[in-house]
Amino acid sequence: MGSSSGGRLLTPERSRIVGSPLKTKGFVTREKVTIPGLRARKGRGEKIAVVTAYDATMARLLDEAEVDVLMVGDSLGMLVQGWDSTLPVTIEQMIYHCQCVTRGRPRAHVVGDLPFLSYQVSEQEAVLSAGRLLKEGQAESVKLEGGRAVAPAVARIVAAGIPVMGHLGLTPQSVHAMGGFRVQARTESEADALLQDARALCEAGVYAIVLEGIPSDVARLVSESIEVPTIGIGAGPHTDGQVLVCYDLLGMYRGHTPKFVRRFAEMGDGVVDAARAYVNAVRDASFPAPEHGFAMRTGEALPEQDPEVKYGGRSAGETA
Ligand code: KIV
Repeated sequence: MGSSSGGRLLTPERSRIVGSPLKTKGFVTREKVTIPGLRARKGRGEKIAVVTAYDATMARLLDEAEVDVLMVGDSLGMLVQGWDSTLPVTIEQMIYHCQCVTRGRPRAHVVGDLPFLSYQVSEQEAVLSAGRLLKEGQAESVKLEGGRAVAPAVARIVAAGIPVMGHLGLTPQSVHAMGGFRVQARTESEADALLQDARALCEAGVYAIVLEGIPSDVARLVSESIEVPTIGIGAGPHTDGQVLVCYDLLGMYRGHTPKFVRRFAEMGDGVVDAARAYVNAVRDASFPAPEHGFAMRTGEALPEQDPEVKYGGRSAGETA
């Protein structure tokens, strides 16, 4: 039973009151995940499960699995669009994918990523970009990368009533500055700088912080030092929650699997096997079978066909 519902099974009547219910075997099991609910989890020591999602079908499946937060990450630039970094992703594309995910009306909280250059240029633009993810994309909060440098923009976005999730450590939008997708904060001074960044984000009003690609001990220190939940990816077990990219979790990504990923299934192989079976069935004409076809209306029938008559009534061999 889901922890955010306090273990209650909700009746259909109750579900109408709380909205966005999830029905499991006739019962509604969990309420909509909210920012206050996520923040309260930290106090109770309840871990938060976050997964990325980029489309409605995946969002619905992950929601059925009671994932707490669906993150419409700009990782879609690499996983959906096929770029080798997240840098080319635009705000319009993020809005589009947020719409795809939120149309499923998931009970999970939906956070949308602010893409590269949509919040770094000015605080006004940061508020506008964040607002568009909520207003047009229907996301419920936004995520952005960086620490003290972006804290003023975070404060402005939060002041506009938009919840913000921070992102520290390996920040993919800084791939070139980092010299690649490398583990960060491996020295004491870097760890200290990261802690200061986390504190600055908290002061600016973030409701959670993603800690990506940092040593487990540093993630533990930050998690124990700040009030808001930390969500780890490649940051060890001591964070308040974890996030995985959906295609990594499902074992669908064919490229390099980073050390911190656990593939909870090998759905990529499943996709290839299913598609191969389909190709074979088309080739040997075993698909579609009679049960996949449609009959004419009762009483309707085509005239008997003369096996000699072909091609729109012309006899075999006859030309135009
Ligand atoms: O873009 C993304 O999907 C992310 C998560 C992997 C943290 O930032």
